[in-house]
Amino acid sequence: MRSVLLVHAGAGTWKYLDRESIIATLENALETGLRALTGEGSAIAGAVEATKVLEDSGILNAGIGSVVDLSGHVSMDAGVMDGYTGRAGAVASVTYPRNPVVLALKVMELTDHILIAGSPADDLARRLGLEKHPGPSQKVLKRYKEYIMKGYSGPYVKSYELAKKLGIGDTVGAVAVDSKGRVAAAVSTGGVMLKFPGRVGDSAIPGAGFYANRAAAAVATGIGETIIESFLTLSAVNLVAEGLSASTAAKMSIMKHTSISGPDTAGVIVVSSDGDFGAFFNTNAMPWGYITSDGKLGISGLPKK
Ligand code: GLY
Repeated sequence: MRSVLLVHAGAGTWKYLDRESIIATLENALETGLRALTGEGSAIAGAVEATKVLEDSGILNAGIGSVVDLSGHVSMDAGVMDGYTGRAGAVASVTYPRNPVVLALKVMELTDHILIAGSPADDLARRLGLEKHPGPSQKVLKRYKEYIMKGYSGPYVKSYELAKKLGIGDTVGAVAVDSKGRVAAAVSTGGVMLKFPGRVGDSAIPGAGFYANRAAAAVATGIGETIIESFLTLSAVNLVAEGLSASTAAKMSIMKHTSISGPDTAGVIVVSSDGDFGAFFNTNAMPWGYITSDGKLGISGLPKK
């Protein structure tokens, strides 16, 4: 069967979108991920490699483009899940790795744990020789200083209300199905701008920010607290397991999520083990794209001009 890969650049208002850069980044992630997915590759390799490209773009809220917390520091969450084996790996509140998604993959492959948090996870990244994060970008630090000047500061800033107001793009991720019908999910984020230090969002929690089983894989983006409350990706994958198409499952899971958490809160991408796929969001935009091993590529979810 044909392999399929989906990626997204985050749900949000995308007020400050640079269309060309976003499209080029999505296409690069899709093409890189597809190479890791086809031939001797696998769904999990495709999803991780695609997410790594998005982390390395510097223009999205993950990896080297991550936003900062209330204290002005980067701390990131990431997760991966292989639907065929049912194994997941995740990291929370990490500061050391440039590519938290790679560390999450190592947690899945090298340990029998699922989630490792904070400085021990950073130590693991160091011991594994993973590349070091360069620290917040100048662009992110400039925005941070502007928000602090405007009085957006702690100790209990409502960071997710703020995220909605400021229209910050959120999180990156990928889902894939390989030629053997195995599905996988990968997600990575800098979290919410001005979050309380130590806050962990949905991207570290299986069933919330990412989920995969033998039927389907899904990755979520948006306000992490709301995604944890609705267990958005578990909900989407369960709908596929019950017989719905991936696109209907994406739409219905977001409708259910919206009824709990309201609009402007989340988006999801879904792929099923038979190669069917879809995406849905309740925000102004969620740039996403797909690529197939039989030569199709599409980009969607950009805000209207
Ligand atoms: N969706 C990412 C976060 O809220 O942390």
